[in-house]
Amino acid sequence: MSDAQEELLIEGRAGIDPGGSEEARRAFRDTLGHFATGVTCMTSRTERGDPVGITVSSFNSLSLDPPLILWSIANSSVSFACFQVGRPFAVNVLSAEQESLARNFARTGGDKFAGIDLHTGLEGVPLLAGCVVYFECAVEARYPGGDHDIIVGRVRRIFNIGKHPLLFHVGALRTF
Ligand SMILES: Cc1cc2nc3c(=O)[nH]c(=O)nc-3n(C[C@H](O)[C@H](O)[C@H](O)COP(=O)(O)O)c2cc1C
Repeated sequence: MSDAQEELLIEGRAGIDPGGSEEARRAFRDTLGHFATGVTCMTSRTERGDPVGITVSSFNSLSLDPPLILWSIANSSVSFACFQVGRPFAVNVLSAEQESLARNFARTGGDKFAGIDLHTGLEGVPLLAGCVVYFECAVEARYPGGDHDIIVGRVRRIFNIGKHPLLFHVGALRTF
């Protein structure tokens, strides 16, 4: 788009109200996708001890002191009930070689951990082998946010392995 076209679009107030029609909601989702992110997998265990894992791109830093991070989980996620306040979990930042893990943990149901190489983290939380970095956390707070809940994690331990990250942009997994 040229500078002149951008000027016409913005000054002409031709923006989209994302709360409108189904089409507008899709446009909102597509527009959010232009914010390039890394890809993480949040892992934990249920009270019964079963491993839980979910692919997440909403991860971000929150506070340096105290050390806090945040992410959001959809109300529709099967794992929604697992990340209660006080529960341990890990942020596994996926590497460029882990595209298949990103797809595996974006599935609902089935045994997502079958054949996956793991390390054992604090309180038995599974850590996915081969990641860029790991943040071992406990859920500090949880806040409702529309059709998601915001999860705040207090970081208890970190590992920095230093690999190239996997990226997510406009609906596609990418590397650089
Ligand atoms: C790249 C990518 C990023 C995602 N980010 C999130 C996210 O931030 N929050 C979320 O709730 N789901 C996110 N998802 C969708 C979940 O991974 C997906 O709904 C998964 O099936 C949830 O698993 P569960 O239903 O077993 O809990 C993402 C999926 C992909 C592929």
